[in-house]
Amino acid sequence: MIRELRVEPHLLRVELAAGGTFELHALQLRDSCPCPTCCHAGTGQRLLETDAIPLDLTIESAIRLGDVSGTIVTWSDGHAALFLDERLIRVGLPDRPARTFWDASLAPTLPEATYEEVAGREEMLRQWLAAVEELGFAVLHGVPPEPGAVCEVAELFGHVRVTNYGRCFDVRTVADPLNLADTSLGLGLHTDNPYREPVPGLQLLHCLEAAGAGGETVLVDGFHGVEQLRRRSPRALTLLASTPVRFEYASPNAVLVATTPIVELDIASAPMAIHLNNRSKRLPEVPIELARDWYAAYRELTSILDEPANQVELLLEPGDLICFDNERVLHGRKAFRGDERRLQGCYADRDGLRSTLALLSDKEGQWAAA
Ligand code: OGA
Ligand code: ZN
Ligand code: ZN
Repeated sequence: MIRELRVEPHLLRVELAAGGTFELHALQLRDSCPCPTCCHAGTGQRLLETDAIPLDLTIESAIRLGDVSGTIVTWSDGHAALFLDERLIRVGLPDRPARTFWDASLAPTLPEATYEEVAGREEMLRQWLAAVEELGFAVLHGVPPEPGAVCEVAELFGHVRVTNYGRCFDVRTVADPLNLADTSLGLGLHTDNPYREPVPGLQLLHCLEAAGAGGETVLVDGFHGVEQLRRRSPRALTLLASTPVRFEYASPNAVLVATTPIVELDIASAPMAIHLNNRSKRLPEVPIELARDWYAAYRELTSILDEPANQVELLLEPGDLICFDNERVLHGRKAFRGDERRLQGCYADRDGLRSTLALLSDKEGQWAAA
């Protein structure tokens, strides 16, 4: 796994057999020492206090031990420890979910499975969850079209996030709607509940009854849209990422307000979250002299998302369910006719999905062994 190590007083450089390298500062390496003095043997939790590490610490040596695939590191404070290769790599290459951006060309190869498969076989569940993680969504067929079944799907991998809408919520036409979703109007591309803090990370929508005509679901990879905007107009992206926008929802039993940029970028400027919902959007908090530019940037992003070349369209039949990352994949629906259409939805959190995915992928038992 590790091909070569290079030690400098302040640095360990690791070259991997499979290609790729990483570097750790002497302080970072010491901070991740796995020895039983620094990490509790039973729980695996850290005992070493980071602020107790001397700032002038250096690495004295790093000696490879071929027979156990590990390295003995000795620091200038006299501390020494064995890092097994797997541990050292996990320290140096933190897990980043691999994301594949997509557009309309994904349509013939949608990530899909049946409820029977994912409920009955761990490997099928793992693959389905991995698709949600990588692509931001996956489809499930054959979920019993009964009220509450959507929560059972969420509980295959995590916990339902209860909100003021309850454990799950109905999407159907009603006589006195509180929400545009409860009409037969089309819904433009959006993410749900940007007025909540934290915003639900995952959403599941389950079709109990289809519309007489229309009601197709449209999905778009918002992160791919963000990358297209970055190429066309980096300044527009910067403006959307740096301007807080207020979102609100008010009904007789809830008043919800949150302020967040349309696009959140991480420290390396990669997209982290997208919040877009015309129904609940209020005003951008932008200086007057930048207001026009913000509106132009907003329009530039929505026009990218609205391009058919970026959209996947599917018609949910009774028993079909989609699970998607609500801060990455935007969803919308076309207008429909008839009032029999009925969907049920629920929210869940990405951490629960990632936890289940990590446990199902844990062939070497690295997490179980802490
Ligand atoms: C919603 C929604 C989708 C649909 O209620 O927010 O996106 O297909 N509904 O009705
Ligand atoms: Zn130690
Ligand atoms: Zn929605």
